[in-house]
Amino acid sequence: MAVETITLNDGVDIPVFGFGTFQIPPDGSTYRAVREALNMGIRHIDTAAAYFNEQEVGRAVRESGIPREEIFITSKLWLQDYGYKAAKMGIENSLKKLGLEYMDLYLIHQPYGDVPGAWKAMEEAKAEGKIRSIGVSNMTPKIWDSFVPQFETIPSVNQVEFNPYCQQKEIRKIMDKSGVRLESWGPLGQGRKEMLSNPVIVEIAKKHGKDAGQVILRFEYQEGVIIFPKSTHPERIKSNMEIFDFALSDEEMKKMRELDTGKGTHNPDAPGVAEMLINAFDIHADEK
Ligand SMILES: NC(=O)c1ccc[n+]([C@@H]2O[C@H](COP(=O)([O-])OP(=O)(O)OC[C@H]3O[C@@H](n4cnc5c(N)ncnc54)[C@H](OP(=O)(O)O)[C@@H]3O)[C@@H](O)[C@H]2O)c1
Repeated sequence: MAVETITLNDGVDIPVFGFGTFQIPPDGSTYRAVREALNMGIRHIDTAAAYFNEQEVGRAVRESGIPREEIFITSKLWLQDYGYKAAKMGIENSLKKLGLEYMDLYLIHQPYGDVPGAWKAMEEAKAEGKIRSIGVSNMTPKIWDSFVPQFETIPSVNQVEFNPYCQQKEIRKIMDKSGVRLESWGPLGQGRKEMLSNPVIVEIAKKHGKDAGQVILRFEYQEGVIIFPKSTHPERIKSNMEIFDFALSDEEMKKMRELDTGKGTHNPDAPGVAEMLINAFDIHADEK
């Protein structure tokens, strides 16, 4: 399967479909899942320093035998590495763990603390050829307005929670003005049964001879969103990819759009979120 690519606002091409690796442990499972995804034809892998699995992602990519330039690798800087100097180190650490000379996309994972300092380090790494494209994640309109006007380079993407229940209408309007692409995290609602058994989605799925997950992913693709569902089950990795042989009609897209609740499972604007996240994931814990 040759996956379609789109061009980001900085001229970098990105495959619209990829593979997510959140919560896949670094015990050989990440290596196996990424090799499986690559074998099936996926050429876009999303990882992060805070997933603790960059090493296995990098090894899977290197040992796949696929030319490096044919695979799009995203990683993300974590909160302990914010600020200009720390971010410089954080970027080097990601490259070292991945065992790669460059990353295709690098994101500010969570929008708290010295984001402008970290962003400056990312801009420099981009100029030095260590990162091809730089973006942000979890930015709401309020957070976007507090940081992005301070940036010299406009982000190429904003990776946010996105699925039929959480369609991010407000931030999409702001991003559209600068051609910033939305990447979805939780494209399958993180496997939530309630979404996968939604009667509207199930009915559309039946009509197309597809399953609910495939209809959800197809909807997101037709909305112009970049998606990378995660699974450690080969049969699900395969079925999640089978969304390019059917199309939802305008009427079906309208029904899917009506499922939006206007909110997600995670509210980046809520008080205490930054502290909760920095305490939940300490990426330097093993160095102490
Ligand atoms: N920027 C951020 O803050 C952020 C946050 C979260 C995620 N992400 C990124 O976005 C990626 C995708 O999001 P996600 O992993 O949180 O959620 P997701 O892809 O929406 O859902 C993954 C969950 O759904 C299950 N699943 C996968 N395919 C399925 C299918 N066809 N039918 C039923 N269940 C299925 C998986 O279980 P099995 O593995 O058991 O199949 C897993 O529990 C992540 O992996 C990560 O790379 C980024």
